[in-house]
Parts: sequence; C-alpha cells; structure tokens
Amino acid sequence: MDKMLDFLVGYAESGSAQPESLFPYRIRNPRVATMALPSTIEVVQGDDLFDTIQTGSDAISGSRGLYIHIPYCDRRCTFCMYTCYDDASQGDLIQYTTLLMRQLEKLAESAWIQAAPFDAIYLGGGTPTVLPPETFAYLVSGIRKLIPIADDCEITVESTLTAMNDEVWSVLPGIGVNRVSFGVQTFDTSLRRRHGRRSSKEEVVEMLQKLTSSGIRNIAIDLIYTLEGHSREILHDDLLTMASLPVTGLSLYPLIKGDDKLVTQEKLKAEYTLYMHADAFIRALPGWTRFTPVQYGDAQNGRARYVQMLGLQQDILAVGPSAGGRIASYGYLHNRRLREWVDNASHEKGTIERCVQYHPNVAKYQPVFKLSESHGITQQEIELLKPLFGEVFSMLLDTGLITHDGDTLRVTPDGAFWAGNLSVLFAQHIAEKA
Ligand SMILES: C[S@@+](CC[C@H](N)C(=O)[O-])C[C@H]1O[C@@H](n2cnc3c(N)ncnc32)[C@H](O)[C@@H]1O
Ligand code: SF4
Repeated sequence: MDKMLDFLVGYAESGSAQPESLFPYRIRNPRVATMALPSTIEVVQGDDLFDTIQTGSDAISGSRGLYIHIPYCDRRCTFCMYTCYDDASQGDLIQYTTLLMRQLEKLAESAWIQAAPFDAIYLGGGTPTVLPPETFAYLVSGIRKLIPIADDCEITVESTLTAMNDEVWSVLPGIGVNRVSFGVQTFDTSLRRRHGRRSSKEEVVEMLQKLTSSGIRNIAIDLIYTLEGHSREILHDDLLTMASLPVTGLSLYPLIKGDDKLVTQEKLKAEYTLYMHADAFIRALPGWTRFTPVQYGDAQNGRARYVQMLGLQQDILAVGPSAGGRIASYGYLHNRRLREWVDNASHEKGTIERCVQYHPNVAKYQPVFKLSESHGITQQEIELLKPLFGEVFSMLLDTGLITHDGDTLRVTPDGAFWAGNLSVLFAQHIAEKA
C-alpha cells in the first residue's frame, strides 16, 4: 500500500507543490481508510461473530449505530456505485424484508446488542422507500422492538424524491423516522436526465418545499459536484437552489468511480476548485457548519449522527448484502451478491463473507480520526496522541492541512478536501509505527 506520509514529506522538502497536488491522488471513499487499519483476517462467519463477543465491554466507543441495507431502486442511475437492483417484484421486496427481520431476531439477544442503546439507525440503499409502506412500517417498528434504542435515537431513511409519495411520507413520523436523506445529485434538469433521474428541477424544488413543510424536521439532500457534464456555473446554481430551500443538511460528494484514485492532475485541480468553492459557500450559510468532510447542515437541526459514527470508526451493526459493520474489535462485510445473500439467509446460513479483527492499537488511537473527520481533537486527546503522531501533526500544521483553533486542532478547508488521504495516513501510521 502507498505511504501517504512519504508523499507529504516529499511535498515539504520540495516546497513547490500547490495545495491541490499535496498528494498524487485523492482518496474519497471512507472504506479505504478502514481497510488500511492493522488487522488479522478471521474465519468467523455469520452468527459466529456474535457468539465470539460474549460481553459488550470491549466496544470501541459508547456510541453505536445500526445500518440496514435495502438494495432496491425503482430505476438505476448511470453513476451509482452501490449494490442495488431495479427489477424486484413486490414478492421479492417482502421476502427480503422478512429475511432481514429474521437475521435481526437471531442477533437481538446477543450480549453486545443488549449492552447499550443504539444512538442512530440508518436505512440506506438503494432506495428503502420502494418497499410497500406497510412492509416498511413493519421493518422499522420491528427494529424498534428488537433493539434497545436511545430516547433521542436518530432514525434516517434514504430516498429519492420520486419514491416518496404521500402514502410513504405519512407513515414515517408515526414509526419514529426523524431524518430523511434525499438524493438530488443536481437540480439541473438536463444533467439530471443525462444521469437517469426523471424529474425536472421545478418538480424537485416543488417536492422538497412540500415535504419540508410537513412533520419531519431534519431533511437532508445529496449533491454530487463532479458529475459528467458538471460545471462551476451548474454547481453554483445547485448551491443557490439548495440554500433557497428549507432543507437542514447536505451531503456533498465528488463522483466516485472504480478504484477511487483520482490521479490526473488536471482533474484533481478542477475537483479541488469546485470543492473549495462549495465548501466556502455552504459554511457561509447562516447557522450552517461542516459536520464531516462531506456532510454539512444546520448546526442545531441538521446533524447526521450515523455518518459521523462511520468516519470515526465507531461501532455499527450492519445487515444486508454489501453492508459493512464493526462490532467491538471486529470489522465485517456481508456478501455483496444479492442472490447469494438471499439464498444463504433463506437457508439460515451465515451471510458475512469477510471478517477481520483489529489490532488493539486501533481502539487506543481512535481519537485521531476525529481530526480527519472535521470534529477536531482536544488538548487532552493531543497529549494522548502525541507520542505516536507528534511529527505527523507538525507536518500537517506546516502544510496547512490542520490548524489550531483555541485548544483544539482542526482540519482547514484544504485538510477537509484531503480528509480521505489523512484518514489513510493515520491508519497506515497506526499499522506501521504503533
Ligand atoms: C445510496 S444513494 C441513496 C439515495 C437514493 N437512492 C437516491 O439516489 O436518491 C446515496 C447517495 O450516494 C451518492 N452516490 C451514488 N453513487 C455515487 C458515486 N458513484 N459517487 C459519488 N456519490 C455517489 C448519491 O449522492 C446518492 O444520493
Ligand atoms: S436511485 Fe440512488 S441508490 Fe438507486 S441507482 Fe440511483 S443513486 Fe443509486
């Protein structure tokens, strides 16, 4: 694996590079940092993982989340990188939900699950709202009965605007959903159509205005800022439109393709310019802040607790094909192939295809990820991390990627742009130097 620190040292020595070429490529997929953490491969499968964990006492942190993957959409978009299918029958959807519930019922009694309440539940996909409304309600209510949840638990559902009709919308508040995340990608009608989205800018705006005036307070949207055909003008128009709407949060993604290494200097520079423009624009909105390198929102109502947990390497129970989770010192990934997942789950076989156990140093140095994930690290955490990361922090300060903010160390906008690389750098440093 490449050594992120060596790239930075090279930069510091030459002193000539621009911030947009601090690293030779940009890492944008958070899974890359998780894969760089020191671990040993385990052979545990499915339920064995839960049998292995006898108590909740070695959990990495107090916060814990639940991720449920619904791998279905009503139509496939050209750019999508997720495991999802657009050819399911109503029967497939119901069978899949039954299998999810069966897995959760089997896991629910484990010591780890019952050890503490869950702070966030995320129903992602795909497009979970393509489930029939009564099936969706059965799933969410079932989860709430099986899993201990905190009084202020964040319950998020991902959806497209076209899969959110009045019937679906009306069941959400009653079953405890308090956050909805809509994929918009761009408001630009011709760009939307080019990438497989049906509705026009006017329709999207109208739907968002209607939804935000009814019940659920925390409504976020996703925008992608480097879709093929995007320009600075279209992005600026997207941001102005977003700012005119009563949404509380925004996830801002670069387009991720294939192995996610953005190498070409010209493209890297263009992406940097767009990100810096968007980041400055969004942080200037009244009351808004950056929660993570890709997640912004109203500081009071727009928080995305689940997304923050993911980046901080906190505990996530994940269910469904391709869903990746983390339990105490273990990380695991479910089979990504839907048919195999369904087949195994139907025959009560394990559905986890890979499981690793992280080295104890991962838990020890976990606060360092608060730095790359935009939360900042406190003086007390700096002291704890200094023996391992002292020189790294000096270099990051010299290169302008982090800065002092009172007693806290935080990423700068440049640091937020390079956050994926910083997380990988930290993971590699724990693996090699701790
Ligand atoms: C799993 S989708 C769920 C949302 C919903 N299905 C929708 O698209 O409206 C979550 C978000 O992932 C983002 N996404 C999907 N494919 C991507 C890609 N190749 N690169 C970057 N972001 C992507 C999109 O912004 C999308 O809204
Ligand atoms: S609707 Fe969402 S999940 Fe489905 S293909 Fe499009 S971007 Fe992917």
